[in-house]
Amino acid sequence: MIAALSEFFVLTFWITPKVLWFSFKEERKVKRLFHQNAEFKKADLSLKSSYRFKNPYRICKQHMKERGSSFLHSYGETPLTVLDEMFEKGDLKAEDCFVDLGCGRGRGVLFASLTKNCNSIGVERISLFCEKAKSIEAEKTQFFCQEICDFDMQLGSFFYFYALCLEEEELELAVRQLEKMKAGSKLITVSFPLTEYSQKFKLLSSWESAYPWGKTDLFLHLKKS
Ligand SMILES: C[S@@+](CC[C@H](N)C(=O)[O-])C[C@H]1O[C@@H](n2cnc3c(N)ncnc32)[C@H](O)[C@@H]1O
Repeated sequence: MIAALSEFFVLTFWITPKVLWFSFKEERKVKRLFHQNAEFKKADLSLKSSYRFKNPYRICKQHMKERGSSFLHSYGETPLTVLDEMFEKGDLKAEDCFVDLGCGRGRGVLFASLTKNCNSIGVERISLFCEKAKSIEAEKTQFFCQEICDFDMQLGSFFYFYALCLEEEELELAVRQLEKMKAGSKLITVSFPLTEYSQKFKLLSSWESAYPWGKTDLFLHLKKS
Protein backbone atom coordinates (compact mmCIF):
# COMPACT_ATOMS: atom_id res chain seq x y z
CA MET A 1 0.00 0.00 0.00
CA ILE A 2 2.77 2.45 0.99
CA ALA A 3 4.82 1.44 -2.06
CA ALA A 4 1.81 1.97 -4.37
CA LEU A 5 1.08 5.39 -2.83
CA SER A 6 4.67 6.53 -3.11
CA GLU A 7 4.79 5.32 -6.76
CA PHE A 8 1.62 7.35 -7.42
CA PHE A 9 3.07 10.54 -5.85
CA VAL A 10 6.44 10.22 -7.58
CA LEU A 11 4.77 9.63 -10.96
CA THR A 12 2.15 12.38 -10.59
CA PHE A 13 4.14 15.17 -9.01
CA TRP A 14 7.72 14.52 -10.11
CA ILE A 15 8.18 12.38 -13.22
CA THR A 16 5.06 13.34 -15.24
CA PRO A 17 5.52 17.16 -15.00
CA LYS A 18 9.23 16.80 -15.88
CA VAL A 19 8.44 14.59 -18.89
CA LEU A 20 5.63 16.88 -20.08
CA TRP A 21 7.84 19.97 -19.94
CA PHE A 22 10.68 18.19 -21.75
CA SER A 23 8.27 16.90 -24.42
CA PHE A 24 6.74 20.34 -24.92
CA LYS A 25 10.18 21.86 -25.63
CA GLU A 26 11.22 18.89 -27.78
CA GLU A 27 8.08 19.04 -29.93
CA ARG A 28 8.66 22.74 -30.60
CA LYS A 29 12.13 21.83 -31.91
CA VAL A 30 10.67 18.97 -33.99
CA LYS A 31 8.24 21.37 -35.70
CA ARG A 32 10.98 23.89 -36.37
CA LEU A 33 13.68 21.47 -37.50
CA PHE A 34 11.97 18.46 -39.04
CA HIS A 35 8.42 19.39 -40.04
CA GLN A 36 9.94 21.41 -42.88
CA ASN A 37 10.01 18.01 -44.57
CA ALA A 38 6.38 17.73 -45.75
CA GLU A 39 6.43 13.95 -46.12
CA PHE A 40 7.75 13.41 -42.63
CA LYS A 41 5.36 15.98 -41.19
CA LYS A 42 2.40 14.17 -42.76
CA ALA A 43 3.53 10.76 -41.46
CA ASP A 44 4.34 12.15 -38.02
CA LEU A 45 0.97 13.85 -37.64
CA SER A 46 -0.93 10.80 -38.79
CA LEU A 47 1.03 8.59 -36.37
CA LYS A 48 0.20 11.04 -33.59
CA SER A 49 -3.51 11.09 -34.45
CA SER A 50 -3.65 7.27 -34.48
CA TYR A 51 -2.78 7.37 -30.74
CA ARG A 52 -5.29 10.10 -29.86
CA PHE A 53 -7.44 7.67 -27.90
CA LYS A 54 -4.75 5.11 -26.99
CA ASN A 55 -1.71 6.27 -25.15
CA PRO A 56 1.45 4.21 -26.02
CA TYR A 57 2.56 4.24 -22.37
CA ARG A 58 -0.74 2.58 -21.38
CA ILE A 59 -0.55 0.10 -24.28
CA CYS A 60 2.93 -0.99 -23.21
CA LYS A 61 1.97 -1.10 -19.51
CA GLN A 62 -1.01 -3.34 -20.33
CA HIS A 63 1.21 -5.61 -22.43
CA MET A 64 3.80 -5.90 -19.63
CA LYS A 65 1.02 -6.70 -17.12
CA GLU A 66 -0.25 -9.47 -19.40
CA ARG A 67 3.28 -10.89 -19.64
CA GLY A 68 3.41 -10.93 -15.84
CA SER A 69 6.35 -8.53 -15.81
CA SER A 70 7.05 -6.34 -12.78
CA PHE A 71 8.68 -3.83 -15.12
CA LEU A 72 5.44 -1.98 -15.97
CA HIS A 73 6.68 1.52 -16.77
CA SER A 74 9.26 0.48 -19.35
CA TYR A 75 7.91 2.52 -22.29
CA GLY A 76 9.65 5.69 -23.39
CA GLU A 77 10.60 7.33 -26.67
CA THR A 78 13.89 8.64 -27.90
CA PRO A 79 13.61 12.34 -28.78
CA LEU A 80 13.99 12.94 -32.51
CA THR A 81 16.72 15.50 -31.79
CA VAL A 82 18.69 12.71 -30.06
CA LEU A 83 18.17 10.39 -33.05
CA ASP A 84 19.21 13.15 -35.43
CA GLU A 85 22.46 13.70 -33.54
CA MET A 86 23.01 9.93 -33.45
CA PHE A 87 22.59 9.69 -37.23
CA GLU A 88 25.08 12.52 -37.64
CA LYS A 89 27.69 11.02 -35.28
CA GLY A 90 27.26 7.54 -36.78
CA ASP A 91 27.28 8.96 -40.31
CA LEU A 92 24.02 7.28 -41.37
CA LYS A 93 23.93 7.19 -45.16
CA ALA A 94 21.09 6.79 -47.66
CA GLU A 95 22.57 3.36 -48.57
CA ASP A 96 22.28 2.18 -44.96
CA CYS A 97 19.43 0.19 -43.50
CA PHE A 98 18.49 1.61 -40.11
CA VAL A 99 16.99 -0.81 -37.57
CA ASP A 100 15.31 0.23 -34.32
CA LEU A 101 15.29 -2.86 -32.08
CA GLY A 102 12.20 -2.43 -29.93
CA CYS A 103 10.81 0.46 -31.94
CA GLY A 104 7.63 1.24 -29.96
CA ARG A 105 5.30 3.39 -32.10
CA GLY A 106 7.98 3.45 -34.80
CA ARG A 107 8.38 7.21 -34.88
CA GLY A 108 12.18 6.96 -35.09
CA VAL A 109 11.90 4.47 -37.96
CA LEU A 110 9.67 6.85 -39.96
CA PHE A 111 12.02 9.69 -39.08
CA ALA A 112 15.05 7.81 -40.45
CA SER A 113 13.45 6.73 -43.73
CA LEU A 114 11.69 10.00 -44.48
CA THR A 115 14.38 12.47 -43.45
CA LYS A 116 17.57 10.47 -44.20
CA ASN A 117 16.15 8.63 -47.20
CA CYS A 118 17.51 5.25 -46.09
CA ASN A 119 15.66 1.95 -45.74
CA SER A 120 14.41 1.57 -42.20
CA ILE A 121 13.10 -1.32 -40.15
CA GLY A 122 11.26 -1.37 -36.85
CA VAL A 123 11.27 -4.53 -34.73
CA GLU A 124 8.57 -4.61 -32.07
CA ARG A 125 6.82 -7.32 -30.05
CA ILE A 126 3.58 -5.36 -29.36
CA SER A 127 1.32 -6.06 -32.34
CA LEU A 128 -0.81 -2.92 -31.92
CA PHE A 129 2.30 -0.73 -32.33
CA CYS A 130 3.26 -2.65 -35.49
CA GLU A 131 -0.23 -2.47 -37.01
CA LYS A 132 -0.50 1.28 -36.49
CA ALA A 133 3.02 1.91 -37.80
CA LYS A 134 2.36 -0.22 -40.90
CA SER A 135 -0.86 1.68 -41.60
CA ILE A 136 1.18 4.87 -42.21
CA GLU A 137 2.53 3.17 -45.37
CA ALA A 138 5.72 5.23 -45.54
CA GLU A 139 8.18 4.46 -48.32
CA LYS A 140 11.35 2.48 -47.51
CA THR A 141 9.88 1.52 -44.14
CA GLN A 142 9.12 -1.95 -42.79
CA PHE A 143 7.87 -3.20 -39.44
CA PHE A 144 8.45 -6.71 -38.09
CA CYS A 145 6.23 -7.79 -35.25
CA GLN A 146 8.62 -10.11 -33.47
CA GLU A 147 11.12 -10.56 -30.66
CA ILE A 148 14.50 -8.86 -31.02
CA CYS A 149 16.23 -12.20 -30.38
CA ASP A 150 14.49 -13.70 -33.47
CA PHE A 151 15.23 -10.82 -35.85
CA ASP A 152 17.53 -11.46 -38.84
CA MET A 153 20.36 -9.02 -38.02
CA GLN A 154 21.81 -9.44 -41.53
CA LEU A 155 19.04 -7.15 -42.81
CA GLY A 156 20.42 -3.98 -41.21
CA SER A 157 23.60 -1.94 -41.25
CA PHE A 158 22.89 0.76 -38.62
CA PHE A 159 21.21 -0.43 -35.41
CA TYR A 160 19.70 1.39 -32.46
CA PHE A 161 19.29 -0.75 -29.36
CA TYR A 162 17.47 0.96 -26.48
CA ALA A 163 18.05 -1.97 -24.21
CA LEU A 164 17.15 -0.34 -20.91
CA CYS A 165 13.67 -1.84 -21.16
CA LEU A 166 14.98 -5.42 -21.33
CA GLU A 167 15.34 -7.77 -18.42
CA GLU A 168 18.81 -9.34 -17.97
CA GLU A 169 17.93 -12.72 -19.47
CA GLU A 170 16.33 -11.10 -22.55
CA LEU A 171 19.32 -8.83 -22.90
CA GLU A 172 21.71 -11.81 -23.00
CA LEU A 173 19.59 -13.45 -25.74
CA ALA A 174 19.43 -10.20 -27.73
CA VAL A 175 23.21 -9.74 -27.52
CA ARG A 176 23.83 -13.26 -28.91
CA GLN A 177 21.56 -12.32 -31.84
CA LEU A 178 23.23 -8.91 -32.32
CA GLU A 179 26.53 -10.75 -32.75
CA LYS A 180 25.11 -12.14 -36.03
CA MET A 181 25.01 -8.75 -37.76
CA LYS A 182 27.26 -8.06 -40.77
CA ALA A 183 30.85 -7.02 -40.11
CA GLY A 184 31.18 -3.24 -40.41
CA SER A 185 27.61 -2.61 -39.21
CA LYS A 186 27.12 0.18 -36.70
CA LEU A 187 25.29 -0.16 -33.41
CA ILE A 188 24.23 2.48 -30.90
CA THR A 189 23.33 1.61 -27.32
CA VAL A 190 21.95 3.72 -24.49
CA SER A 191 23.59 4.06 -21.05
CA PHE A 192 26.09 1.20 -21.36
CA PRO A 193 28.51 -0.02 -24.05
CA LEU A 194 27.83 -3.45 -25.57
CA THR A 195 31.51 -4.28 -25.05
CA GLU A 196 30.46 -5.11 -21.45
CA TYR A 197 28.53 -8.07 -22.91
CA SER A 198 30.31 -9.01 -26.13
CA GLN A 199 33.83 -9.10 -27.57
CA LYS A 200 32.46 -8.85 -31.12
CA PHE A 201 32.08 -5.07 -31.15
CA LYS A 202 34.58 -2.26 -31.10
CA LEU A 203 33.61 0.92 -29.25
CA LEU A 204 34.11 3.94 -31.56
CA SER A 205 32.80 6.86 -29.52
CA SER A 206 30.32 8.02 -26.90
CA TRP A 207 28.52 11.27 -26.10
CA GLU A 208 25.89 12.60 -23.72
CA SER A 209 22.25 13.03 -24.75
CA ALA A 210 19.12 14.28 -22.98
CA TYR A 211 16.10 11.98 -22.70
CA PRO A 212 12.81 12.95 -21.02
CA TRP A 213 13.90 11.00 -17.92
CA GLY A 214 17.38 12.57 -17.70
CA LYS A 215 20.81 12.73 -19.30
CA THR A 216 22.73 9.63 -20.32
CA ASP A 217 25.57 8.48 -22.55
CA LEU A 218 25.14 6.92 -25.97
CA PHE A 219 27.72 4.46 -27.34
CA LEU A 220 28.59 3.95 -31.00
CA HIS A 221 30.07 0.55 -31.91
CA LEU A 222 31.39 -1.16 -35.02
CA LYS A 223 30.77 -4.89 -35.55
CA LYS A 224 34.14 -6.60 -35.92
CA SER A 225 34.80 -9.05 -38.77
C1 LIG B 1 11.60 2.10 -24.37
S1 LIG B 1 10.64 1.70 -25.81
C2 LIG B 1 11.69 2.42 -27.04
C3 LIG B 1 10.98 2.80 -28.31
C4 LIG B 1 11.90 3.32 -29.41
N1 LIG B 1 13.03 2.44 -29.66
C5 LIG B 1 12.43 4.67 -29.09
O1 LIG B 1 13.60 4.76 -28.68
O2 LIG B 1 11.69 5.67 -29.22
C6 LIG B 1 11.03 -0.03 -25.94
C7 LIG B 1 10.14 -0.80 -26.89
O3 LIG B 1 10.80 -2.06 -27.10
C8 LIG B 1 9.83 -3.09 -27.13
N2 LIG B 1 10.52 -4.33 -26.71
C9 LIG B 1 11.07 -4.59 -25.51
N3 LIG B 1 11.63 -5.79 -25.50
C10 LIG B 1 11.45 -6.31 -26.75
C11 LIG B 1 11.82 -7.55 -27.36
N4 LIG B 1 12.48 -8.48 -26.68
N5 LIG B 1 11.46 -7.75 -28.64
C12 LIG B 1 10.76 -6.80 -29.34
N6 LIG B 1 10.39 -5.62 -28.81
C13 LIG B 1 10.73 -5.37 -27.53
C14 LIG B 1 8.78 -2.64 -26.13
O4 LIG B 1 7.54 -3.26 -26.40
C15 LIG B 1 8.76 -1.13 -26.35
O5 LIG B 1 7.80 -0.76 -27.29
